[in-house]
Amino acid sequence: MSTSLDTVLAHLDSTHESQMQRLFDLLRIPSVSTDSDHDADVLTAAELCARYLTESGFKAAVRETTGHPMVVGHVDGPPNAPHILYYGHYDVQPPDPLELWDAPPFEPVLRAGANGEQIVARGAADDKGQLMMFLEALRAWNDVGGGIPIRATVLLEGEEESGSPSLDPFLEANADELRPDVCIVSDTGMWNPSTPAITTMLRGMVYLDVTLHGPSHDLHSGMFGGAVVNPLNELAKILGGLHDASGRVTIDGFYDGVQNPSDAQLTEWNNLGFDASAFLAEAGLSSSTGEAGCSVLERIWSRPTLDINGITGGYGGEGAKTVIPAQANAKFSCRLVPGQDPAAIEAAIRRHLDQALPEGCTWSIVSHGCNPAIQVPTASPWLEAAQVGLEKIWNRRAVLVGCGGSIPVVGSFQTVLGADSLLIGFGLDDDRVHSPNEKFDVASYRGGTRSHAAVIASMAAMGRP
Ligand code: BES
Ligand code: ZN
Repeated sequence: MSTSLDTVLAHLDSTHESQMQRLFDLLRIPSVSTDSDHDADVLTAAELCARYLTESGFKAAVRETTGHPMVVGHVDGPPNAPHILYYGHYDVQPPDPLELWDAPPFEPVLRAGANGEQIVARGAADDKGQLMMFLEALRAWNDVGGGIPIRATVLLEGEEESGSPSLDPFLEANADELRPDVCIVSDTGMWNPSTPAITTMLRGMVYLDVTLHGPSHDLHSGMFGGAVVNPLNELAKILGGLHDASGRVTIDGFYDGVQNPSDAQLTEWNNLGFDASAFLAEAGLSSSTGEAGCSVLERIWSRPTLDINGITGGYGGEGAKTVIPAQANAKFSCRLVPGQDPAAIEAAIRRHLDQALPEGCTWSIVSHGCNPAIQVPTASPWLEAAQVGLEKIWNRRAVLVGCGGSIPVVGSFQTVLGADSLLIGFGLDDDRVHSPNEKFDVASYRGGTRSHAAVIASMAAMGRP
């Protein structure tokens, strides 16, 4: 196997240019899942991914769902090979604000960066660059490694960035076809440019979109101001009251059940040598704010949050317009940690909003997703096999880390397929995911592709459990 792996690694090194072309072709497609104007683009991206899989020896198809399609591919591998389910998402976040990009978001470019060349485009790191790494590793095994040595299923989603509404029904309907021994999810980060990481915790999420309705139409603020309710004033007060002075969320029951990390886990995190100042500097900041008494790593990995993601209402155009708006809107999301029940949190927020409802107003509330925090078992032979593969490429063991972000599919794999996931990703904190000028380091891409190839070899060496 190690001779084959060496051949595969050499092939990956020598075919870098064609890999870049395939990645750039995918990055050129504006597959923004939240924006229905891009529905056709989302489908085009799915079709391209299916083609890449077919070229790599997979039986692959674009499969309909109630929303954007899934791409599913299978390769049988040798008898008794372990069955690995690879997951990535080919949809991307909206690129706005467009004017802050140095180059158009869907015209990928290479530019020089701190760790060498960078690929700059929406989706470069999240998640097209990451899914292309395992597709290319599988392609190389198929082309020069004597065939893919594992049973592999690839599942690529087109609506991860919009809360994965079609995912559970699709997994339920196709559970027997998809159920693997273990899943590999490539949508997270490394610890630093030379240290790989396996993520063992993800925060969950509740996302609400709330509109406070007042007068039946916009009013002249001189004719009516002072005598009628202003939904923007009221919404601002309610939102301003969602945290207390110590940074805690004021909603009744919000912290019910919150599990603190174990002492062993805290010690492990402390030993990582996290550089809080560098982390903050990347965000253009010099200090951290949040819950009193918590370290920065605890604040992003193991404490729940509530953040307002957008406020709209009234007049935002040029100059002044004296108006009392008929309505005001806020989008806000909570990151959840182990022990919190997403449905209970959503109910608690709705209760809080109802109690705070100003006289003369009504709420309309839309939910955009609700998923629990995830913990991945660390004492697993699959994780150890992944470690062996990663160590071969990086000459050091991967560190086990938490992640403040959310990847709903990991919970669904656990509950619907009964399968655990290995979260092996190669992003970096300075990738600007969800932000203008998103990038992915070419060094991360190369190391990640080689890593997936090596992990395939160590999984194959394990055989079926
Ligand atoms: N790739 C991210 C998750 C992530 C974020 C990993 C930060 C590592 C660091 C994923 O695509 C994402 O952004 N997920 C959304 C999920 C939400 C829309 C349900 C998130 O976390 O906001
Ligand atoms: Zn992602």
